[in-house]
Amino acid sequence: MGLGSAAALLLMLANSASAENLDAGKSGARLFADSCAACHRSARGLAKGRFRLTLYLFLQQHYTSSADSASALSTYLQSVDAPAGLPGRKVKPTRRLQQGEPRPPRPPLPVRGR
Ligand code: HEC
Repeated sequence: MGLGSAAALLLMLANSASAENLDAGKSGARLFADSCAACHRSARGLAKGRFRLTLYLFLQQHYTSSADSASALSTYLQSVDAPAGLPGRKVKPTRRLQQGEPRPPRPPLPVRGR
């Protein structure tokens, strides 16, 4: 194997390693804009005063492909969350689906063991 192909192989290895998690190294705000803003117009009010750990577990379970992005996102959601208990900032309770009403789209669970 010549030097050229060895370098090409190395490059391929490096590329495949970085392709594993496209979200690696993105900030919470960036992650939100990329993968959440389509359905949630604003990050504000999503955290709803939840503990960071609760949020983190929720995000990891439902949305993000890695612990790192779940962590970055939960920090971000908390940082922009509307402060709880301020007058005039009542948090609207989540509306219950009526019988027979179609469910809103949800992202599929992440594929495990990738
Ligand atoms: C395909 C559309 C879609 C995408 C994309 C999406 N969500 Fe959601 N999300 C929903 C729906 C639908 C709900 C349930 C809303 C409800 O119950 O009021 C939800 C609920 C949530 C909740 C709980 C809110 C609550 O009221 O309890 C959080 C937090 C959340 N999403 C964060 C995120 C984050 C962070 C991302 C990006 C990684 C994201 N979502 C991407 C559709 C989406």
